Amino acid sequence: MKSIDSPKKNILVIYHSQGGTMKLLANQLAKGAAREDNLNIILKEASDATVDDLLNCNGIAIGSPEYFGTMAGMIKDFFDRTYEAAQEKTIGLPFIVFVSAGNDGRGAISQIERLTAGYKWKKVQEAYRVVGVPTEQDIINIQDLGHALAAGVDFGIF
Ligand SMILES: Cc1cc2nc3c(=O)[nH]c(=O)nc-3n(C[C@H](O)[C@H](O)[C@H](O)COP(=O)(O)O)c2cc1C
Repeated sequence: MKSIDSPKKNILVIYHSQGGTMKLLANQLAKGAAREDNLNIILKEASDATVDDLLNCNGIAIGSPEYFGTMAGMIKDFFDRTYEAAQEKTIGLPFIVFVSAGNDGRGAISQIERLTAGYKWKKVQEAYRVVGVPTEQDIINIQDLGHALAAGVDFGIF
């Protein structure tokens, strides 16, 4: 049983979106995470997310479009800005990745997962890839992905 005095855990959702697709998906993922009402869901564009956001979170979702076969530059920038301060303090952090793409997306996923391996974070669900315009099923799956991360963090099973 949880103590009513225990502080709420934080889920950080960071994303970048130039054309709006990933913004839609990140909002839906955060909505799914918010089904766990015992947590704070912090949804931020990667360019606005800080080292403190990262150090204070208990789970992170990273949403990127695939641009030129890899992650968006602003997602890479977030990793560049936070690595030295956060790497030793976030070992084992539960994470998920979700990617939007025109026709592929696997390059972005593999590059993000290479960086998360550098931080020694823990992948708790396989990355989700939306190719083309998101379908209704994609939206449901993205919400469920956010909920799975939040529920696992809330119950301490990761
Ligand atoms: C500059 C640029 C490069 C892109 N490169 C790729 C790519 O390498 N592979 C791919 O599958 N889609 C590529 N796309 C398509 C985007 O990944 C896709 O439209 C994505 O959903 C865009 O997300 P956004 O609307 O949040 O920016 C590219 C789009 C742009 C604008």
